[in-house]
Amino acid sequence: MMARSSTELQARHESALPRGVVCAFPICAERARGAEIWDTEGRRYIDFIGGMGALAVGHSHPQVVDAVITQLQRFTHTFFGSIPYDGYVRLAERLNAIAPFPAPAKTLLVTTGAEAVENAVKIARFHSGRRGVVVFKGGFHGRTLLTLAMTSQLDPYKRGFGPFPPDVYHAPFPSAYRGPSADEALQSLRDLFETQTEPEQIAAMVIEPVQGEGGFLPVPPEFLRALRALCDAHGILLIADEVQCGFARTGRVFAIEHSGVDPDLVALGKSFGGGLPIAAVIGKAEIMDAVPPGGLGGTYAGNPLACAAALAALNVLEEENLAARSMEIGERLTTGFRSLNLGANYPIIGEVRGLGAMIGIELIDDATSQRPATALTARLVEDAAMHGLLLASAGRAHNVIRILAPLTVSNEIIDEALAIFDESLARVTTLAHAGSI
Ligand SMILES: Cc1ncc(COP(=O)(O)O)c(C=O)c1O
Repeated sequence: MMARSSTELQARHESALPRGVVCAFPICAERARGAEIWDTEGRRYIDFIGGMGALAVGHSHPQVVDAVITQLQRFTHTFFGSIPYDGYVRLAERLNAIAPFPAPAKTLLVTTGAEAVENAVKIARFHSGRRGVVVFKGGFHGRTLLTLAMTSQLDPYKRGFGPFPPDVYHAPFPSAYRGPSADEALQSLRDLFETQTEPEQIAAMVIEPVQGEGGFLPVPPEFLRALRALCDAHGILLIADEVQCGFARTGRVFAIEHSGVDPDLVALGKSFGGGLPIAAVIGKAEIMDAVPPGGLGGTYAGNPLACAAALAALNVLEEENLAARSMEIGERLTTGFRSLNLGANYPIIGEVRGLGAMIGIELIDDATSQRPATALTARLVEDAAMHGLLLASAGRAHNVIRILAPLTVSNEIIDEALAIFDESLARVTTLAHAGSI
C-alpha cells in the first residue's frame, strides 16, 4: 500500500529498511519538476540537493521524460553483451566527441559512479600491468570495496567494512583554506614515492577535479598540471573522477577542462543520466582497448532506458547551454552568499568557494581556529528544510553546505533560496549565541 503521509512513510521505513539506510528529511516525495519538489502533504520545497548532484537538467525534464517513454514502449532491456541496440553506441559516440582530451576516445557504459571508478582502475591496471593506485585525502569515490579503499572518510563509509583491497595510497589534497598548499601537497606526494612505493608500481592517480563529498574543494590548476607531469614522467595514468563535478556542474562540461590538463580516463555518472542510473568511463582509445573482449560489462550496463535519458540530457546540456548557465548560477549564488556576510553579519561563514554552480559554504564556530561548525550546520539544514529549502552538507566535519541546484533553475528560485538561507542562518546564529546549539 502506498504511504499517504510523511509520518506514515517514516514509521514504515524504520521497520522495513536496515538502519544503515538513512533519510535526512521526514518528508515523502510526491512529484517534482525542475528545481522544485512537492511532498504528499502538498508542501513545496526548492531542491538544492538535486538527487545528490544527479539532476543538472532538473527533475523530470520534458525531453528526458519523452525519450524514456518512447524507449519504454520499444523495449526496456536486452543485455547489451548478447543483443546490442543503437542507444548504447550513439551515446558512446556523443561522449567520445566531447572527451576532454584531443586523442581518439572510446567509452564504456556502466550503471553507477562507483562502478565507473572501479572500471577505470581495472582498465588502467590492465593497460599498465601495474597494481598501485594513488588517491587524495578527503576524496570520495564510492561505496564498493575498491572505491571504499580509495575513499578517505571513516564515518559513516569505511568503519567496520574492511579489509579493503591493497595497493591504494592516500596523498594529501591541497586546500587554500585549511592547507596544505599545492607545493606542500606535491612534496608529500614525492615523499610517498620515496618512502612507500616506487612510482613504477603505480597504474593510476585518481582525483576529483573538485572534491565533492570532501567539501567542494577545487583542485588548484597548478597542482593538476604538476600531477600530469609526474604521471608522464613515470608512465602513470591520470584518471579524473567527474562523477559529481562533471556534466557542466562547474561551468565546463568536464571540471578538469578549467585547468587545461588532459586526463587519460574520465569517470562520469550522476547528472549524466538525467535522473536515471547510468555512468561511463571515457578514455583514450588505445588505453580503453587494452582489456580483451569480454573483460568489461555488466547486466544492466548501458541499459536502453538510461541511454535514452542520457542522450536527452546531453541534448539539454547543449541546447540550454548548461555550462554557461552554470557560471551565471555560480556568480549569482556566490554574490548572494558573500553579501550575507558583509559587515561580518555571519562570522560563522568561513569561506564561500567553488567553481561554476558547484558552490560550497564552509561554516565555522571560531574564525581564529577555523573550528568546524558541525552541529550548527546540521541545524541549518534542518531549519532551511522546514522553511522550504532542501540542502545537503559535505566535508569531513559535515560543516560545508554544498549547493547542487539543477542547472535549469530560474533566477527567481535562486533568489528565493538565498532569502530562505539568510533567514535560517539568522535563526541558527541566534540559537548558537544563546548557547542552544
Ligand atoms: C566523486 C564521486 N565519485 C564516485 C561516486 C560514487 O557514485 P555512485 O554513488 O553513483 O556509485 C560519487 C558519489 O557521490 C562521487 O561523488
